[in-house]
Amino acid sequence: MRHSFAIVCLLSVITTFVAGQAAPMKVVPIPAVLGAPRPFPYPWTFPTASADELVSRRVALAKAMVNGVAITISGPTPELASGSRYKPEHDTWYFTGVDTDPCVWVLVAKDGKIESQRLFLPVFNKSYELWNGRRWCAGPESAAAVGLGPDDVVPMSGGNFGGSNSMKSVEDYLRTLAATTPPTWFIDGNIGNEDTARLDISTPDRGGMIKRFLKSVVAKPKFRGLGSVSGTLRSIKSPHEIDLIRRAAWITGEGFHDAMREARPGMWEFEFQSLMERAFISHGCTGVPYYPIAASGPNACILHYTDSRRQMVDGDLVLCDIAAEYGYYAADITRTFPINGKFSDRQRQVYEAVLAGQTAAAEALKPGATLNELDAACREAMIKGGLKPGELHPHGLGHHVGLDVHDPGAMVFKPGMIITIEPGSYLRKESLGARIEDLYLVTETGNECLSKMIPKTVAEIEALVGAAHRR
Ligand code: GLY
Ligand code: MN
Ligand code: MN
Repeated sequence: MRHSFAIVCLLSVITTFVAGQAAPMKVVPIPAVLGAPRPFPYPWTFPTASADELVSRRVALAKAMVNGVAITISGPTPELASGSRYKPEHDTWYFTGVDTDPCVWVLVAKDGKIESQRLFLPVFNKSYELWNGRRWCAGPESAAAVGLGPDDVVPMSGGNFGGSNSMKSVEDYLRTLAATTPPTWFIDGNIGNEDTARLDISTPDRGGMIKRFLKSVVAKPKFRGLGSVSGTLRSIKSPHEIDLIRRAAWITGEGFHDAMREARPGMWEFEFQSLMERAFISHGCTGVPYYPIAASGPNACILHYTDSRRQMVDGDLVLCDIAAEYGYYAADITRTFPINGKFSDRQRQVYEAVLAGQTAAAEALKPGATLNELDAACREAMIKGGLKPGELHPHGLGHHVGLDVHDPGAMVFKPGMIITIEPGSYLRKESLGARIEDLYLVTETGNECLSKMIPKTVAEIEALVGAAHRR
């Protein structure tokens, strides 16, 4: 009996030791996340604009507005039900650096200078934090983090998990502004039919809601789209923004590299997509800026094909318009390749013509050039490459990229702008679609392709596609 007891004890010591529990257990204190206001600076996983940069964006906005009141609103995104990723309203993020909801920001410009500002944030709410974690709350730390004075940040009553959705403090403030100034209100959104409104943060068209509210408190309010002013500012990227888009392009390149190496007949479109998205997640991306397009064979001729449900077969040309979003900034990049790793003569002819078009457009991109000029150069080169005029891209040649994948901005180019050049040809009868899309930063003397590290020539693509299976 004693003997067996000793054996049991010994066994238990050995098991404990093997399991690594023999040493005294180290108790790691659990950080006091709940029940305390959110500390700042927030531990971002990506670089964010400095408080100084946020201040300079707001100063530039006041200068551009001259006289008026700008209002941005970030609230819950209705289609993103519980558990989904929240993305801040882009002007809110650009001017305030706040990426949680609810958030309302009001800037009053007088004679081109900031007269006053209010950032409405929720009060700290324990129940909200239990379900969703930390978010920006009203308080001096928040004000300092985004370059505002302590009195500029005020509590807002509304918001999910904060009780009602009402925005009483915002309503009161707007009534005061409406009574003291006859401003132009710079807001985005549709007015709709109703003449009166109460503010409610859960309303999907929040800009329209603010306009309806103002119509109920001011006679004939004058509105202008905030985008008409913010778009121009946002079209010139700061070094910080260029850095984020550069990273988004680089990570997209990692995705293309991983996925194209694995590609071969038999792979499903969704498998290719998932290999790219795996790379995005593993590099800390904030998501994808648009729904990925992995389109093979006939699907490559459907411009907005997003089903990703086809199994790719030998002989397919595959068009993948898939890109990463990093720090809320978009990349937008397309590669086209043969699934079997070797372009057929016809695929190669079409592909080379599209590539020649992109090269010609890129050569024309410099300060002062217009998108129309780039497109003319592109089309000429594509036709020289053997394509017919009716076979050239039916979509635009390019667009600005930034917080939005289709960012606002003029099509007369200036240094600091980032645009795509994305010619294509979609030959339905041949089940053959090709597009090549890259990101270009306009510099003082010309441009820099931010996605140049992603294989693009016929030789580079043929060397990469399926390389994992040729070891
Ligand atoms: N991926 C969207 C576009 O190319 O514009
Ligand atoms: Mn694009
Ligand atoms: Mn694209």
